Amino acid sequence: MDARPIGIFDSGMGGVSLLRDAMMLLPTENFIYYGDNLNAPYGDRTEEEILALTENSADFLLQLGVKALVIACNTATSASINVLRKRLDVPVISVEPAIKPACEIPGDGKIFMLATAASYRALQERMPDPQRVLNFGISGIVARIESGIVADDAFDDIFDAYLAPYHGMKADGIVLGCTHYIFIARAVERYFKKHFCGECRLF
Ligand code: DGL
Repeated sequence: MDARPIGIFDSGMGGVSLLRDAMMLLPTENFIYYGDNLNAPYGDRTEEEILALTENSADFLLQLGVKALVIACNTATSASINVLRKRLDVPVISVEPAIKPACEIPGDGKIFMLATAASYRALQERMPDPQRVLNFGISGIVARIESGIVADDAFDDIFDAYLAPYHGMKADGIVLGCTHYIFIARAVERYFKKHFCGECRLF
């Protein structure tokens, strides 16, 4: 077996959710996790800045001898995946918001995608059902999670600032389009079930 580690990268601690799954699925592999906490959140940055920061982080992990690179960040993926795959000699694996399976659920309700503007732009052309999807690039959530807050009722003020005008609508699905949001899945579900109707299924 090739004992070199697999590098996992995110703008901060969001990708730890993915590291946890990777460690369970691949128990004999070694991993190095790198979170760019200093520069998080990436969601408020330009695509050029996100690309430069992601390339720096990828180079750092490559210097440590990783045999593959996982971009465990939807935002970094959107700005850098084509460049990294062309430039690097190791396999580059990445994540994108699960908008495709979400749009496959039947119903006439909306799909609420919670993803940064950069992620949304990258997906726009491939959006399976654009009329049905409402995207919210919500500023402030990632910074709060980075500060260690994940309680179920700790995000209502931020959600309200973006979602209050939509209260009462039918939500068939909610896409957690940022790896940080895995840590607050219950907070998201609780908020949507309280203020929206429909199944509010999480993706
Ligand atoms: N974990 C990143 C993502 O999946 C967070 C984005 C950010 O840093 O704003 O998109």
